[in-house]
Amino acid sequence: MLELTREIQRLKQERNAVILAHNYQLEEVQKVADYVGDSFYLSKLAANSQQDVIVFCGVRFMAETAKIVSPTKTVLLPEKDAGCPLAEMITVEGLRILKSQHPGVPVVCYINSSAEVKAESDICCTSANAVKIVASLPDHKVIFVPDENLGDYVAKQMPDKELILWKGYCVTHAKVQPKDVHQVRELYPTAKILIHPECNPAVAALADFVGSTSEIIRYAQLSEESAFVIGTEMGVVCTLKETLSNKQFFLLHPGLVCPNMKKTRLESVYRALQDQQYEIHVEPEYALRAQLTLQRMLEVV
Ligand code: 13P
Repeated sequence: MLELTREIQRLKQERNAVILAHNYQLEEVQKVADYVGDSFYLSKLAANSQQDVIVFCGVRFMAETAKIVSPTKTVLLPEKDAGCPLAEMITVEGLRILKSQHPGVPVVCYINSSAEVKAESDICCTSANAVKIVASLPDHKVIFVPDENLGDYVAKQMPDKELILWKGYCVTHAKVQPKDVHQVRELYPTAKILIHPECNPAVAALADFVGSTSEIIRYAQLSEESAFVIGTEMGVVCTLKETLSNKQFFLLHPGLVCPNMKKTRLESVYRALQDQQYEIHVEPEYALRAQLTLQRMLEVV
């Protein structure tokens, strides 16, 4: 492992590459990354990166986003089959039909979407800024795709807006049910329960705090409490245990493991750098419009 880490560092210099890793990545991958964070933080880093190559340890839509905001860079996704079922729950044709049913209504798309869907939308958002992005629009009605749970969470924060939602969901977060929250409250009565807004609304309603992966991490860092139940992918629990060893962390549900995020291993990062694989290409047909959608988000927040 040490040898592989050394080789990765050497190749990184040689290729003038930066390694970005999402909070859900395996610990071994997070350790070799230059930056670890949530989707928003990583998309900003990709937009401002100075290196020639971006190795994106995450899922396809994240690497695609990096390519859209940094089109002159070589963007590599170490595992070509690391997809996102949520992003695949909406097609551009489906979105066009929804838009035709609500003419003139602006579309906010969650970053967990394809480049085509981004191109067909007006502005992008992540879980860390969704409320801010929707609030930035002067319109009363807003189409929000593809995550229904995040959309519902946003709608609850701004009851004066009318959100038209798509019925997409994250298959990992959807496993959590209200009974799981009741159970952990009984088991750990003093622990704070921190939940990602991709969980269903009945679950989010029982949380002490709802936020993106980085917001959950920040909450646990700043809180004076000593025990927390984490309602998002287990990678966040690993990071928290590693960095805040004086506090206790429990995973809300044993099924909170994203199989796609876990595909990337240290070996995959090495191969990505060694063989320049797998290079992300975005069809020029929608790259520019998708870039505008992302740029609008980066300008608002
Ligand atoms: P973050 O916005 O916290 O990075 O979440 C992204 C994601 O895909 C959650 O499942």
